[in-house]
Amino acid sequence: MSTNQNAVSMPNYIKFAFGGVSGMAATCFVQPLDLIKNRMQLSKTKEHKTSFHMAKAILKSEGVIGIYSGLSAGLLRQATYTTTRLGVYTWLFGVYSKESGSNPGFFVKAGLGMFAGCCGAFVGNPAELALVRMTADGRLPAAERRNYRSVFHALIKIITEEGVLTLWRGAIPTMGRAMVVNGAQLASYSQAKEILLGTGYFKENITLHFTGSMISGLISTAASMPVDIVKTRIQNMKTIDGKPEFKGALDVLAKVVKNEGFFALWKGFFPYYARLGPHTVLTFIFLEQLNATYLKMAKTES
Ligand SMILES: *[C@@H]1O[C@H](CO)[C@@H](O)[C@H](O)[C@H]1NC(C)=O
Ligand SMILES: *[C@@H]1O[C@H](CO)[C@@H](O)[C@H](O)[C@H]1NC(C)=O
Repeated sequence: MSTNQNAVSMPNYIKFAFGGVSGMAATCFVQPLDLIKNRMQLSKTKEHKTSFHMAKAILKSEGVIGIYSGLSAGLLRQATYTTTRLGVYTWLFGVYSKESGSNPGFFVKAGLGMFAGCCGAFVGNPAELALVRMTADGRLPAAERRNYRSVFHALIKIITEEGVLTLWRGAIPTMGRAMVVNGAQLASYSQAKEILLGTGYFKENITLHFTGSMISGLISTAASMPVDIVKTRIQNMKTIDGKPEFKGALDVLAKVVKNEGFFALWKGFFPYYARLGPHTVLTFIFLEQLNATYLKMAKTES
């Protein structure tokens, strides 16, 4: 994601494919942490004080399989959401760099990241909805469980029982969240790489990719947690006395701050960072490795 004018050009479909593969590979490592984060954000009582306490409780009641529940949904989410967002970002980044002869500035990067995130979230919303429901299921009383067997079972059941449009429930906050996350994540990664390379202490290697993606993970976590809690609550919203629990995104924020305190917006910060951080790091490292391998092979062929 830095300029290299004499680099071999990469077809756009490869950019999308590499984005999706990188995200899916990263998900296999971080899925269990995602489950813990969702449960922490949904727990309204003080039943689980720490993330470790929560992890122990899940392991005890649901076993190792419980920890990995929702993996199929997580992978489908990457195949849709990350394929789209990374594909759109690297494609537009390349178009912009080629047109202007230099890398875009920070605000253009942030704009490209937000746009890419918005597209990704729209494409990825059905898998996202299935993922949130599947990871939350084990927490519900047995009678209320949805008992989806896999992401495909979940999608089919949602379509037949609740209608196709339900798949895009919560799409607006999800897209809002994705714009914040991707604006922060993609732009800070590209920017961090540029700055780090500029110091002269770094070269284009895995050390650079690791450092840049660590920085990117921290920045995107801080920025996106309040948006994420809105999304999770809306997707799990129940109807009480014929009325939906929340009126909209601002209503969720107001109710959380009023009933649970301001810092509840960052409840589950550790498992959230522990997921988004490594996911960000692994995704970018896989992406850069695929990129480097492709460019090496393309060069030897030409
Ligand atoms: C792939 O690597 C090349 C060379 O290091 C770089 O110019 C390009 O921006 C990279 N592309 C992506 C998508 O990371
Ligand atoms: C990457 O490059 C830097 C700077 O040249 C070097 O200090 C570091 O050891 C390299 N890392 C790897 C894994 O090769």
